[in-house]
Amino acid sequence: MTVTSRISGFHKLPVDQRLDKIAEVAGLDAATVDLLRNTGNLPADVADRMIENTVATMTVPIGVATNVTLDGQDVLVPMATEESSVVAAVCNAALRCRDNGGFTTSSTGSLMIAQIQLVDCPDPENARIRILERREEIREICEAADPMLLKVGGGFHDVEVRIVETRGGPMVITHIIVDTQDAMGANTVNTMAENLAPHIAGWTGGRTCLRILSNLADRRLARARATWRPEDIGGESVRDGILQAYYFAEADPYRAATHNKGIMNGVSAVVLATGNDTRAVESAAHAYAAKSGQYRSLSRWEADRDGNLVGVLELPMAVGLVGGATKIHPVAQANLKILGVKRAQELARIIVAVGLAQNFAALRALATEGIQKGHMGLHAKNIAAMAGAEGDEIDRVAKALVEAGTVRVDVAETELARIRSKAE
Ligand code: MEV
Repeated sequence: MTVTSRISGFHKLPVDQRLDKIAEVAGLDAATVDLLRNTGNLPADVADRMIENTVATMTVPIGVATNVTLDGQDVLVPMATEESSVVAAVCNAALRCRDNGGFTTSSTGSLMIAQIQLVDCPDPENARIRILERREEIREICEAADPMLLKVGGGFHDVEVRIVETRGGPMVITHIIVDTQDAMGANTVNTMAENLAPHIAGWTGGRTCLRILSNLADRRLARARATWRPEDIGGESVRDGILQAYYFAEADPYRAATHNKGIMNGVSAVVLATGNDTRAVESAAHAYAAKSGQYRSLSRWEADRDGNLVGVLELPMAVGLVGGATKIHPVAQANLKILGVKRAQELARIIVAVGLAQNFAALRALATEGIQKGHMGLHAKNIAAMAGAEGDEIDRVAKALVEAGTVRVDVAETELARIRSKAE
């Protein structure tokens, strides 16, 4: 069947008619259309205001990580993820350091950076100084863009100007640094940068091009630290195995990418559950991992003088509580209630603690029994369901798969047939 992607006036249709149109063009059957028609806990009109051309929604499981204690207080952490073992990993890692104080966190403040690119500048060094001389004017222009932010204690913080050598010649790059408080802040700083750009061109005689935030939010860091006693993690050999795993990730980008992916399993799940921008946080994390010039482990691990394992994670964490999907999505709001956070920085610190927990659990599994055993339980249930198992058949088939050490659909089908023939 040939499909046309040219559907004139598509964006103007209401959600249900858009879905009808897609069903017609893509040849969807009635059951599939009914499935897509169910928007679950995100009302269709809300979804329609969030993105363009909405036809349906898609839900992912939310698991709540238990056992987390952070700066002396317990917190329940909702995590939205499609990956098995991620929530269990956090529960397990948090339990193992819980009696030893749990996670200690800190953060820098909510400073975001917006960049203004100036090209064709006759005298870049001179332009730099001229921009820096206008600090107070820059403050006024920025503050006029968001008086509300000023009222809640945020607003313009500083200006920095760098000269960046590029293939297109030297560029004068202005950074405006803005305290966005409980907002992620992208809209605010982008507006400030756009308002400021013509002034910069006028002061310098150059031409401004890009005016946009930097996702490398290295003025908005959150940190978490935790200490695991050897007896709580399986002994000194496990501690040493985790340290060896860390040294590997510190030295080798191929390993570091996977090591950091494990951290982001935890981080992105909380970022998503709270309606925050997963891509912003992920790009920041990976850029931060490469800040030395080589892509490295985001976490640091060491043994302290008592022989305990100490893990530290520091990440840029541009998350907010007051705007975007966080405000609009009813489930994001519910998840914030579960978390009980009142400030964006609290959320940022919890997210980094979860990333550290996730990293601990992955390294511990890798340094001991391997990752597959833990993955197998839930994975086997999925495979059993894929093979057609229903109700309590799912658990029985999954158990047989794990015992056999072969989690495959064909093996599940054989086991299911065996169970059913015995039942007859
Ligand atoms: C899997 O999603 C994440 C891990 O690969 C992380 C790691 O290797 O550290 C287990």
